[in-house]
Amino acid sequence: MQTDSELQSTIDAITQDGKGLLAADESGPTIAKRFKTIDVESNEENRRAWRTLLLSTPGLGQYVSGVILYEETLGQRADDGEPLPSLAARQGIVPGIKVDSGKIALAHAPGDEITQGLDGLAGRLEKYKAQGARFAKWRAVYNVSDTLPSRLAVQANAESLARYAAICQEAGVVPIVEPEVLMDGDHSIDRCSHVNEAVLHEVFDALHRHAVVLEHMLLKPSMVIAGKANKQQASVSEVAARTVSVLGRTVPPAVAGIYFLSGGQTPEEASAHLDAINRMGRRPWPLSFSYGRALQEPVLAAWRGKAENVEVAQQALLKRARLNSAAARGCYAAKDEASALSVSRASPSERP
Ligand code: 13P
Repeated sequence: MQTDSELQSTIDAITQDGKGLLAADESGPTIAKRFKTIDVESNEENRRAWRTLLLSTPGLGQYVSGVILYEETLGQRADDGEPLPSLAARQGIVPGIKVDSGKIALAHAPGDEITQGLDGLAGRLEKYKAQGARFAKWRAVYNVSDTLPSRLAVQANAESLARYAAICQEAGVVPIVEPEVLMDGDHSIDRCSHVNEAVLHEVFDALHRHAVVLEHMLLKPSMVIAGKANKQQASVSEVAARTVSVLGRTVPPAVAGIYFLSGGQTPEEASAHLDAINRMGRRPWPLSFSYGRALQEPVLAAWRGKAENVEVAQQALLKRARLNSAAARGCYAAKDEASALSVSRASPSERP
Protein backbone atom coordinates (compact mmCIF):
# COMPACT_ATOMS: atom_id res chain seq x y z
CA MET A 1 0.00 0.00 0.00
CA GLN A 2 1.30 3.40 -0.91
CA THR A 3 0.57 4.95 2.49
CA ASP A 4 2.50 2.17 4.24
CA SER A 5 5.63 2.66 2.15
CA GLU A 6 5.34 6.42 2.55
CA LEU A 7 5.15 6.05 6.36
CA GLN A 8 8.02 3.55 6.39
CA SER A 9 10.32 5.75 4.32
CA THR A 10 9.68 8.69 6.67
CA ILE A 11 10.41 6.46 9.68
CA ASP A 12 13.64 5.29 8.01
CA ALA A 13 14.70 8.87 7.28
CA ILE A 14 14.10 9.96 10.88
CA THR A 15 15.41 6.99 12.86
CA GLN A 16 19.03 7.22 11.80
CA ASP A 17 21.61 6.10 14.33
CA GLY A 18 22.79 8.95 16.55
CA LYS A 19 20.42 11.52 15.11
CA GLY A 20 17.53 13.30 16.82
CA LEU A 21 14.90 15.96 16.25
CA LEU A 22 14.90 19.71 16.65
CA ALA A 23 11.59 20.97 18.08
CA ALA A 24 11.20 24.47 16.62
CA ASP A 25 7.40 24.49 16.73
CA GLU A 26 6.73 27.04 19.46
CA SER A 27 3.27 28.54 19.08
CA GLY A 28 2.79 32.35 18.88
CA PRO A 29 2.54 32.92 22.66
CA THR A 30 5.44 30.53 23.44
CA ILE A 31 7.90 32.02 20.93
CA ALA A 32 6.95 35.48 22.24
CA LYS A 33 7.94 34.28 25.73
CA ARG A 34 11.29 32.95 24.43
CA PHE A 35 12.02 36.16 22.47
CA LYS A 36 11.20 38.28 25.54
CA THR A 37 14.20 36.73 27.32
CA ILE A 38 16.48 38.34 24.70
CA ASP A 39 14.43 41.53 24.25
CA VAL A 40 13.32 40.69 20.73
CA GLU A 41 9.82 41.52 19.54
CA SER A 42 7.83 38.54 18.28
CA ASN A 43 6.72 39.66 14.83
CA GLU A 44 6.56 37.60 11.65
CA GLU A 45 9.86 38.89 10.29
CA ASN A 46 11.79 38.14 13.50
CA ARG A 47 10.29 34.66 13.70
CA ARG A 48 11.26 34.08 10.05
CA ALA A 49 14.81 35.29 10.70
CA TRP A 50 15.11 33.06 13.77
CA ARG A 51 13.85 29.93 12.08
CA THR A 52 15.92 30.60 8.97
CA LEU A 53 18.98 30.80 11.23
CA LEU A 54 18.15 27.39 12.74
CA LEU A 55 17.40 25.60 9.48
CA SER A 56 20.32 27.04 7.52
CA THR A 57 22.92 26.00 10.11
CA PRO A 58 25.67 24.37 8.05
CA GLY A 59 26.21 20.73 9.00
CA LEU A 60 23.06 20.40 11.16
CA GLY A 61 21.94 17.39 9.12
CA GLN A 62 24.86 15.37 10.53
CA TYR A 63 23.12 15.29 13.91
CA VAL A 64 19.47 16.12 13.29
CA SER A 65 17.21 14.03 11.06
CA GLY A 66 13.96 15.95 11.50
CA VAL A 67 12.60 19.32 12.54
CA ILE A 68 9.18 20.05 14.01
CA LEU A 69 7.82 23.31 12.60
CA TYR A 70 4.93 25.61 13.46
CA GLU A 71 2.28 26.19 10.78
CA GLU A 72 3.52 29.72 10.03
CA THR A 73 7.05 28.45 9.30
CA LEU A 74 5.82 25.95 6.70
CA GLY A 75 4.79 28.90 4.51
CA GLN A 76 7.86 31.10 5.13
CA ARG A 77 10.90 31.57 2.89
CA ALA A 78 14.59 32.27 3.46
CA ASP A 79 16.10 35.54 2.19
CA ASP A 80 16.85 33.95 -1.19
CA GLY A 81 13.22 32.86 -1.60
CA GLU A 82 13.69 29.16 -0.75
CA PRO A 83 10.77 27.78 1.30
CA LEU A 84 11.97 26.96 4.83
CA PRO A 85 10.81 23.30 4.69
CA SER A 86 12.90 22.76 1.58
CA LEU A 87 15.90 24.44 3.23
CA ALA A 88 15.65 21.76 5.94
CA ALA A 89 15.05 18.93 3.46
CA ARG A 90 18.15 19.95 1.46
CA GLN A 91 20.23 19.21 4.59
CA GLY A 92 18.60 15.77 4.87
CA ILE A 93 16.35 17.04 7.68
CA VAL A 94 12.75 15.83 7.36
CA PRO A 95 10.21 18.64 7.94
CA GLY A 96 7.37 17.96 10.37
CA ILE A 97 4.48 20.00 11.73
CA LYS A 98 2.83 20.60 15.11
CA VAL A 99 -0.87 19.99 14.44
CA ASP A 100 -2.56 20.40 17.81
CA SER A 101 -4.03 23.77 18.60
CA GLY A 102 -3.01 23.96 22.25
CA LYS A 103 -4.59 23.07 25.55
CA ILE A 104 -7.58 24.25 27.54
CA ALA A 105 -9.01 23.38 30.95
CA LEU A 106 -10.68 19.97 30.98
CA ALA A 107 -14.32 20.35 31.98
CA HIS A 108 -15.29 18.78 35.32
CA ALA A 109 -11.63 18.16 36.15
CA PRO A 110 -10.20 21.15 38.05
CA GLY A 111 -6.45 21.52 37.43
CA ASP A 112 -6.37 19.19 34.43
CA GLU A 113 -5.98 20.15 30.79
CA ILE A 114 -6.95 18.69 27.43
CA THR A 115 -5.39 19.33 24.02
CA GLN A 116 -7.61 20.44 21.15
CA GLY A 117 -7.28 20.34 17.35
CA LEU A 118 -8.96 17.20 16.00
CA ASP A 119 -11.69 19.03 14.06
CA GLY A 120 -10.69 19.35 10.40
CA LEU A 121 -7.33 17.66 11.03
CA ALA A 122 -7.48 15.35 7.98
CA GLY A 123 -8.00 18.37 5.70
CA ARG A 124 -5.19 20.35 7.31
CA LEU A 125 -2.82 17.39 6.93
CA GLU A 126 -3.37 17.40 3.16
CA LYS A 127 -2.34 21.06 3.07
CA TYR A 128 0.70 20.52 5.31
CA LYS A 129 1.83 17.58 3.18
CA ALA A 130 1.67 19.73 0.07
CA GLN A 131 3.93 22.21 1.90
CA GLY A 132 6.50 19.46 2.59
CA ALA A 133 5.59 18.09 6.03
CA ARG A 134 6.06 14.32 6.38
CA PHE A 135 5.45 13.87 10.09
CA ALA A 136 3.34 15.54 12.76
CA LYS A 137 3.31 16.21 16.48
CA TRP A 138 0.51 16.42 19.07
CA ARG A 139 1.31 17.34 22.67
CA ALA A 140 -0.84 16.30 25.60
CA VAL A 141 0.03 17.90 28.92
CA TYR A 142 -0.34 16.40 32.40
CA ASN A 143 -0.05 18.63 35.47
CA VAL A 144 1.30 16.73 38.47
CA SER A 145 0.38 17.01 42.16
CA ASP A 146 -0.67 14.51 44.82
CA THR A 147 -4.05 14.29 43.09
CA LEU A 148 -3.35 15.33 39.48
CA PRO A 149 -3.69 14.20 36.79
CA SER A 150 -7.15 12.75 37.34
CA ARG A 151 -8.18 9.44 35.81
CA LEU A 152 -10.46 11.44 33.52
CA ALA A 153 -7.57 13.56 32.19
CA VAL A 154 -5.39 10.50 31.61
CA GLN A 155 -8.18 8.80 29.66
CA ALA A 156 -9.34 11.86 27.68
CA ASN A 157 -5.83 12.84 26.56
CA ALA A 158 -4.99 9.25 25.59
CA GLU A 159 -8.12 9.12 23.44
CA SER A 160 -7.22 12.38 21.65
CA LEU A 161 -3.60 11.30 21.08
CA ALA A 162 -4.79 8.02 19.57
CA ARG A 163 -7.39 9.66 17.33
CA TYR A 164 -4.77 12.14 16.11
CA ALA A 165 -2.26 9.34 15.42
CA ALA A 166 -4.82 7.30 13.46
CA ILE A 167 -5.82 10.32 11.34
CA CYS A 168 -2.16 11.04 10.57
CA GLN A 169 -1.39 7.48 9.52
CA GLU A 170 -4.40 7.39 7.22
CA ALA A 171 -3.01 10.54 5.57
CA GLY A 172 0.49 9.03 5.17
CA VAL A 173 1.96 11.32 7.85
CA VAL A 174 4.03 9.78 10.68
CA PRO A 175 2.57 10.76 14.08
CA ILE A 176 4.75 11.75 17.01
CA VAL A 177 2.74 11.01 20.12
CA GLU A 178 3.77 13.36 22.92
CA PRO A 179 2.35 12.79 26.40
CA GLU A 180 4.23 15.41 28.45
CA VAL A 181 4.24 14.85 32.20
CA LEU A 182 5.25 18.31 33.43
CA MET A 183 8.31 19.00 35.59
CA ASP A 184 6.54 22.00 37.15
CA GLY A 185 5.86 21.52 40.86
CA ASP A 186 7.53 19.92 43.87
CA HIS A 187 6.55 16.31 43.27
CA SER A 188 9.02 13.50 43.91
CA ILE A 189 10.63 11.28 41.30
CA ASP A 190 8.42 8.45 42.64
CA ARG A 191 5.30 10.46 41.83
CA CYS A 192 6.65 11.29 38.37
CA SER A 193 7.37 7.64 37.74
CA HIS A 194 3.89 6.61 38.85
CA VAL A 195 2.18 9.25 36.66
CA ASN A 196 4.33 8.47 33.61
CA GLU A 197 3.57 4.78 33.92
CA ALA A 198 -0.19 5.33 34.22
CA VAL A 199 -0.18 7.80 31.32
CA LEU A 200 1.80 5.55 28.97
CA HIS A 201 -0.33 2.48 29.76
CA GLU A 202 -3.44 4.44 28.88
CA VAL A 203 -1.88 5.93 25.73
CA PHE A 204 -0.88 2.53 24.35
CA ASP A 205 -4.25 1.05 25.20
CA ALA A 206 -5.94 3.86 23.23
CA LEU A 207 -3.49 3.53 20.34
CA HIS A 208 -4.37 -0.16 20.13
CA ARG A 209 -8.13 0.55 20.17
CA HIS A 210 -7.64 3.02 17.30
CA ALA A 211 -5.56 0.48 15.31
CA VAL A 212 -2.50 2.74 15.20
CA VAL A 213 0.45 0.92 13.61
CA LEU A 214 3.19 1.11 16.23
CA GLU A 215 5.95 0.54 13.67
CA HIS A 216 4.84 3.75 11.97
CA MET A 217 4.77 6.08 14.95
CA LEU A 218 7.26 7.74 17.29
CA LEU A 219 6.85 8.41 21.01
CA LYS A 220 7.97 11.69 22.59
CA PRO A 221 7.83 11.16 26.36
CA SER A 222 9.14 13.02 29.38
CA MET A 223 12.00 11.58 31.37
CA VAL A 224 11.26 10.33 34.88
CA ILE A 225 12.54 13.18 37.01
CA ALA A 226 11.53 15.01 40.22
CA GLY A 227 9.54 18.25 39.96
CA LYS A 228 11.71 21.36 39.51
CA ALA A 229 10.77 22.72 42.95
CA ASN A 230 11.60 19.49 44.78
CA LYS A 231 14.86 19.87 46.73
CA GLN A 232 15.64 16.19 46.38
CA GLN A 233 16.81 15.83 42.81
CA ALA A 234 17.86 12.35 41.71
CA SER A 235 21.30 11.58 40.27
CA VAL A 236 21.79 11.32 36.51
CA SER A 237 22.02 7.54 36.76
CA GLU A 238 18.81 7.30 38.78
CA VAL A 239 16.87 9.42 36.26
CA ALA A 240 18.15 7.14 33.51
CA ALA A 241 17.32 3.92 35.36
CA ARG A 242 13.83 5.08 36.36
CA THR A 243 13.09 6.32 32.84
CA VAL A 244 14.19 3.10 31.17
CA SER A 245 12.25 1.07 33.70
CA VAL A 246 8.96 2.90 33.04
CA LEU A 247 9.43 2.71 29.27
CA GLY A 248 10.22 -1.00 29.50
CA ARG A 249 6.96 -1.62 31.35
CA THR A 250 4.75 0.37 29.03
CA VAL A 251 6.10 0.83 25.49
CA PRO A 252 5.80 -2.12 23.08
CA PRO A 253 9.03 -3.04 21.25
CA ALA A 254 7.29 -2.44 17.91
CA VAL A 255 7.31 1.36 18.42
CA ALA A 256 9.73 2.81 15.85
CA GLY A 257 11.56 5.18 18.17
CA ILE A 258 11.51 7.18 21.39
CA TYR A 259 12.51 10.84 21.16
CA PHE A 260 12.52 12.65 24.52
CA LEU A 261 11.36 16.21 25.17
CA SER A 262 13.62 18.31 27.43
CA GLY A 263 10.76 19.81 29.45
CA GLY A 264 12.72 22.52 31.28
CA GLN A 265 15.96 20.63 31.95
CA THR A 266 19.10 22.66 31.27
CA PRO A 267 20.86 21.82 28.01
CA GLU A 268 23.63 20.05 29.95
CA GLU A 269 21.19 18.01 32.07
CA ALA A 270 19.23 16.95 29.00
CA SER A 271 22.42 15.70 27.30
CA ALA A 272 23.72 13.94 30.42
CA HIS A 273 20.40 12.16 31.03
CA LEU A 274 20.05 11.02 27.42
CA ASP A 275 23.62 9.74 27.49
CA ALA A 276 23.06 7.78 30.72
CA ILE A 277 19.88 6.27 29.26
CA ASN A 278 21.82 5.05 26.23
CA ARG A 279 24.66 3.69 28.35
CA MET A 280 22.21 1.31 30.03
CA GLY A 281 22.49 -1.12 27.15
CA ARG A 282 20.54 -1.90 24.01
CA ARG A 283 16.78 -1.41 24.06
CA PRO A 284 14.17 -2.35 21.44
CA TRP A 285 13.89 1.26 20.24
CA PRO A 286 16.27 4.06 19.30
CA LEU A 287 16.34 6.46 22.29
CA SER A 288 17.16 9.95 21.14
CA PHE A 289 16.23 13.62 21.53
CA SER A 290 13.44 15.85 20.29
CA TYR A 291 14.48 18.91 22.22
CA GLY A 292 13.17 22.45 22.02
CA ARG A 293 14.61 24.54 24.83
CA ALA A 294 17.63 22.27 25.48
CA LEU A 295 18.78 22.80 21.89
CA GLN A 296 17.73 26.41 21.39
CA GLU A 297 18.45 28.25 24.66
CA PRO A 298 22.17 28.93 24.07
CA VAL A 299 21.43 29.71 20.42
CA LEU A 300 18.87 32.39 21.33
CA ALA A 301 21.29 33.87 23.85
CA ALA A 302 24.02 34.08 21.20
CA TRP A 303 21.70 35.55 18.53
CA ARG A 304 19.85 38.28 20.45
CA GLY A 305 18.02 39.23 17.27
CA LYS A 306 21.13 40.58 15.50
CA ALA A 307 22.19 39.59 11.98
CA GLU A 308 25.87 39.91 12.90
CA ASN A 309 25.41 37.15 15.53
CA VAL A 310 23.94 34.56 13.17
CA GLU A 311 27.17 32.64 12.63
CA VAL A 312 28.09 32.34 16.29
CA ALA A 313 24.49 31.36 17.11
CA GLN A 314 24.62 28.63 14.45
CA GLN A 315 27.84 27.34 16.00
CA ALA A 316 26.05 27.16 19.35
CA LEU A 317 23.26 25.10 17.74
CA LEU A 318 25.73 22.80 16.02
CA LYS A 319 27.52 22.27 19.33
CA ARG A 320 24.34 21.24 21.19
CA ALA A 321 23.18 19.06 18.30
CA ARG A 322 26.55 17.32 18.20
CA LEU A 323 26.60 16.72 21.97
CA ASN A 324 23.07 15.31 21.92
CA SER A 325 23.97 13.13 18.96
CA ALA A 326 26.86 11.74 21.05
CA ALA A 327 24.41 11.25 23.96
CA ALA A 328 22.03 9.33 21.67
CA ARG A 329 24.90 6.86 21.16
CA GLY A 330 26.00 6.86 24.82
CA CYS A 331 29.23 8.68 23.89
CA TYR A 332 28.72 12.08 25.57
CA ALA A 333 31.24 13.31 28.14
CA ALA A 334 30.63 16.45 30.22
CA LYS A 335 34.18 17.59 29.42
CA ASP A 336 33.14 17.84 25.75
CA GLU A 337 30.98 20.82 26.75
CA ALA A 338 34.12 22.96 26.69
CA SER A 339 35.76 21.48 23.60
CA ALA A 340 32.70 20.84 21.48
CA LEU A 341 33.08 23.80 19.14
CA SER A 342 36.40 22.69 17.75
CA VAL A 343 35.38 19.02 17.66
CA SER A 344 32.25 19.89 15.68
CA ARG A 345 34.46 20.79 12.77
CA ALA A 346 36.24 17.41 12.81
CA SER A 347 35.65 15.01 9.95
CA PRO A 348 33.07 12.24 10.47
CA SER A 349 35.80 9.60 10.93
CA GLU A 350 37.27 11.58 13.85
CA ARG A 351 33.96 11.77 15.70
CA PRO A 352 33.13 9.22 18.38
P1 13P B 1 11.14 21.11 25.14
O1 13P B 1 12.31 20.24 24.77
O2 13P B 1 11.52 22.54 25.36
O3 13P B 1 10.34 20.52 26.27
O4 13P B 1 10.20 21.18 23.88
C1 13P B 1 9.88 20.00 23.23
C2 13P B 1 8.54 20.09 22.66
O5 13P B 1 8.35 19.85 21.49
C3 13P B 1 7.41 20.44 23.55
O6 13P B 1 6.20 20.16 22.89
